[in-house]
Amino acid sequence: MVGEKMRGGELSAGAIRVTPTAVSPVSRASREIAIARWGWRDWVADLVVSLIRYATRLGYRAASRRNVNRAWAWDRFNPVPYFKHNYATLRKDDRQILMHVRDFFTAHFDGESIQDIKRRRLHGLDIGSGSNLYPALTMLPFCDKITLRDYSPRNVRWMRNEVRQPHRSWKSFWRVLAKSEPYGRLPGGFAQALRTRAVTQHGSIFELHKNHWDIGTMFFVAESLTMERREFDVAVTRFVESLRDGAPFACAFMRNSSGYRVDVRDFPAVAIDELDVQTCLDKVADKVHVHLIELKNSGTPLRDGYGGMIVATGLRRKFSPLK
Ligand SMILES: C[S@@+](CC[C@H](N)C(=O)[O-])C[C@H]1O[C@@H](n2cnc3c(N)ncnc32)[C@H](O)[C@@H]1O
Repeated sequence: MVGEKMRGGELSAGAIRVTPTAVSPVSRASREIAIARWGWRDWVADLVVSLIRYATRLGYRAASRRNVNRAWAWDRFNPVPYFKHNYATLRKDDRQILMHVRDFFTAHFDGESIQDIKRRRLHGLDIGSGSNLYPALTMLPFCDKITLRDYSPRNVRWMRNEVRQPHRSWKSFWRVLAKSEPYGRLPGGFAQALRTRAVTQHGSIFELHKNHWDIGTMFFVAESLTMERREFDVAVTRFVESLRDGAPFACAFMRNSSGYRVDVRDFPAVAIDELDVQTCLDKVADKVHVHLIELKNSGTPLRDGYGGMIVATGLRRKFSPLK
């Protein structure tokens, strides 16, 4: 599966971008031609060039507005085909991500008994859940409560049913997790724990409260909700800052994605790579570990227009008043 795990759409990161021009050589040449050939006065030529520049800027702003997160029709994101395409069976790349995150959370809580962890009543967050249950499954043994939050009301409705009656395919995801003790020993298995611990919520990553959750996951979200690089950075930062000091987190990203299609609709992406993820997380987190799952190790590619998957883990940086 892939964040914007779906078959490649026709979008490309630059497809609807218009670059604003200062006085370009073309406008300057046209101005000279207009003066020479049609005898325009200087001020008329200047006025026409200014009007063209103004219209170009308006076009640029309009195009930019179309690229941002809130401009996309998230309620048209259809969770059913998205689930079928990505999670109806366990893919090779998802298996690797599961193992990676399982080992990270297990090591983080190593030395604490499940009873001790339970007493701490940890509250987990999975942001941008879509129709993917496995990020929440990776947090299940450690949490008293897990909030699954998505911006799309349609995804929230889908997830509300899913946590009550999970599809059979999640069993193969759970089997990978259950090889590690905290998961394997979960009383009643994952379905019962999900029913009692998971809550769904409508909301945006950009409106998360700071210092709230004790553990978090964000899978294929920050790079798959916008075409604006700045929004990717803000989304990653907001996610990590929504966790308490020292809280462990795991996130996954599509590498160099050019956008994706769900059913008949295109959705946006920002093309990012391992270095972008590392740089962005290093600003707000400690012990950041970034791992690339290359396409050649991913099994059948999920779609065109991406270059593997990235999984990252770390700890929310402890607040230091001296910094
Ligand atoms: C590519 S899907 C990833 C879904 C899922 N996490 C997965 O691993 O497959 C991107 C998800 O981000 C959600 N999303 C888009 N904008 C968001 C926002 N501002 N806040 C939270 N979620 C958002 C979409 O509704 C969608 O579920």
